Amino acid sequence: MTTTTQAPAAQAVALFEELTGHAPAGVWSAPGRVNLIGEHTDYNDGFVLPFAIPHRTYAAVGMREDGRIRVASTFASEPVEVSLDELTTLFPTATGAEPAVAEWAAYPLGVAWALQLAGATGTGVDIAIASDVPVGAGLSSSAAIESATASALNDLWNAGLDRTALAQIGRRSENEAVGAPTGIMDQMASMLAEPDAALFLDCRTLDANLVPLSMTEAGLAILVMDTRVSHAHSTGGYGERRAACERGAAAFGVPALRDVSIADLDRAAELLDEVTFRRVRHIVTENQRVLDTVRTFREKGPRAVGDLLVASHVSMRDDFEISSPELDVAVDTALAAGALGARMTGGGFGGAAIALVEQSAVETVSDAVTAAFAASGFTAPNIFTVTPAAGARRDV
Ligand code: GLA
Repeated sequence: MTTTTQAPAAQAVALFEELTGHAPAGVWSAPGRVNLIGEHTDYNDGFVLPFAIPHRTYAAVGMREDGRIRVASTFASEPVEVSLDELTTLFPTATGAEPAVAEWAAYPLGVAWALQLAGATGTGVDIAIASDVPVGAGLSSSAAIESATASALNDLWNAGLDRTALAQIGRRSENEAVGAPTGIMDQMASMLAEPDAALFLDCRTLDANLVPLSMTEAGLAILVMDTRVSHAHSTGGYGERRAACERGAAAFGVPALRDVSIADLDRAAELLDEVTFRRVRHIVTENQRVLDTVRTFREKGPRAVGDLLVASHVSMRDDFEISSPELDVAVDTALAAGALGARMTGGGFGGAAIALVEQSAVETVSDAVTAAFAASGFTAPNIFTVTPAAGARRDV
């Protein structure tokens, strides 16, 4: 039997063997991510700066001859099995509709479907998934499933797609099979990230450049403070924010808010209603903060980016209104306890915040945040440090 005490790679293999009675053809994995800065800018054709975290999703995969695809995971009691031909009747999922299969299964099945649409063909497959990426924490557990599955099927079906194309396959699954109207950041981070670096990504051109972070050398650490308030982007606020951004771009007559600059904000205030204006101001200033952060990393090193992280959080809290009481307490407490910078990360409405801290202050800051959560009557947070890790790969 599979047990939760095993590492996720071994869990995936054990689950595969339990399911099929034989060993997998291989094991592929892909990481979750933390975004350092650049939130909700991706679907506005803007800039983001994520890095991969050491937590990964593993997919143990093997071929079968009957043209069927079966997915199993350690977080669901029953596998889901369909014929590869049936995928086109399951997807796309109409926007706002429930996925055509259990949500966790829609991620890998949607990847197989999107690969077929991109021209890939192959035999049936069995896929067993295990992961230690926290779910619902804003750390891209879904992109990790998509990227691990896309990497595996790309190899087994000899599709020959590059990492950027595989990220686009993952995003298509997320948007059209799961029905979450997200951008491309998470899949690009999970596919292209490298150790000790962040990925500076232009979401319009998909040009990606690595920015060395050198946190450890500088005596710094990144703390993840998972509020354990779960979020879901297929419903509610995420889509509303996206719609507000589209309204803002339309009012300017430009394809995306990427094309609006800080100098245009006075005009935006005249053109837009008050709420839409604040949504637009977040995106426009956040894009600039990403550029400033990349320059600061390169010119002055990681110790100098703290204020930009804080400004980003304030903008998300007050202008974009995607923070939560738990995220604000995490950020404020971390800063008061000596963090150099802190901000919520990911889509918002729950999930996790990050803090940039001296290695010597990791415990002090963690203890302060845990105590503040207890004093506020919140669920105890899950706090841990992360180092920038590798993107998707074949492990076995
Ligand atoms: C989620 C989405 C991303 C991005 C972030 C916010 O993680 O999946 O595409 O929009 O939210 O920056």
